[in-house]
Amino acid sequence: MTHHHHRVTLGGKLSAVLVAAGSSVGLGNIWRFPYVAGENGGGAFLLIYIGCVLLLGLPIMVAEFAVGRSTRRNAVGAYHALDRRWSFIGYNSVLAAFLILGFYFVVSGWTVEYTVHSLTGELARHTTAEEYASLFERFITNPWRPLLYTLLFILATHAVIALGVQKGIERSAKVLMPLLFVILIALSIHALLMPGAGEGLRFLFYPDFSKVTASTLLTALGQAFFSLSVGIGTMVTYASYFKPDTNLRHTALNVSLLDTLVAVLAGVIIFPAVFTAGIAPTSGPSLVFITLPGIFNGMPLSMVWSTVFFLLLVVAAITSTISLHEVITAYLHEEWHLSRRAAAWLTTGATALLATLASLSLGVLGGWRIFGLTLFDALDFATANILLPLGSLFTCLFVGWKLDPARLHDEVTNGGELRFRIYGLFIFLLRWVCPIILLLVFLDNLGLY
Ligand code: PHE
Repeated sequence: MTHHHHRVTLGGKLSAVLVAAGSSVGLGNIWRFPYVAGENGGGAFLLIYIGCVLLLGLPIMVAEFAVGRSTRRNAVGAYHALDRRWSFIGYNSVLAAFLILGFYFVVSGWTVEYTVHSLTGELARHTTAEEYASLFERFITNPWRPLLYTLLFILATHAVIALGVQKGIERSAKVLMPLLFVILIALSIHALLMPGAGEGLRFLFYPDFSKVTASTLLTALGQAFFSLSVGIGTMVTYASYFKPDTNLRHTALNVSLLDTLVAVLAGVIIFPAVFTAGIAPTSGPSLVFITLPGIFNGMPLSMVWSTVFFLLLVVAAITSTISLHEVITAYLHEEWHLSRRAAAWLTTGATALLATLASLSLGVLGGWRIFGLTLFDALDFATANILLPLGSLFTCLFVGWKLDPARLHDEVTNGGELRFRIYGLFIFLLRWVCPIILLLVFLDNLGLY
């Protein structure tokens, strides 16, 4: 049933880690993590976040890897092949990937615009925080400019997908991920030399539990899932290209550690700058687009540092949009029996349309509201707060309780070849800890108690 079509696999050992880390490391780490941590107590949030990654994110990632590699199918086909009644998890994935791309492509477009503006010196021409705020406001509400950059970014993502799994996804990850780490390390060193470095690091690493509330746990959990790319079939899809001898739990552990490392380094880069400039660390989503350009501006070689920083965002974003695009493309290709080319174009066209509407919803279409939210905010809310926790919840329930235990054990140990000493803990987390915590988060997000 499962091996009747020839499926491409990734080449080397490192490739599995690199492509999966490419998906995980994204705007969630560099744009979202610092401001969420800033708003939720810094060091204390970081500790809770790491707990969520290890206890929930990691087992779910292993579970998704097992589902993907044991079936070698797209997200829908994989669950369908294991138990057709659970195919809805796959459909949830495809829908979530589509909706995430709707706003993620828009933010990605901004990162390209800001890279260009850093390069041309346009960004350095402003001085006060108000000027940077109004620059950002004018830019995102402009009907044409953000669309242009967003479409450019979508076409770049399409080009990689069109090249295929090995020549596109794998090769781009092998070039872009090392580049990302080089930039991260250079920016971290630069940040550590700033006058506000001590204060920034203290904020990031000193756990002040007085700022922790009940909702901190929930925020940390949502951030961890989004950042790791778990619960929405990305890891199922990517694992379907893994080789039979890929060690699933080492891969998941490496990806989780890399993802967390990048989030921490993003904090190391941003907070010293924030404290050097004397700005509150809680300035929200605009931290990266309004606060940072202003801070860079006061520094020697500001053009270089801001260009490199926004380039980092572009690189992080594209390896993530590639993985989301692939979830939909693989589904359309295998389930609708379209050629891969046609499937990729259909995905590109549909997401471009949604992203266009989401972009315009911040400006000319702003009056058009869904439950009081702009389309842009509604897409963010619906995916992060509903589809993602739901997908994770049903993934644990299915893999923990429904999937044939022998098949699961076989898959995570490569047919008994690898030893898995804490297998019992893995199953316990999957069966009990993850579903119970997720249920609480989900109910809380819906405001049901
Ligand atoms: N993990 C990515 C980020 O941190 C976003 C993402 C979510 C990608 C879900 C794929 C699936 O930016």
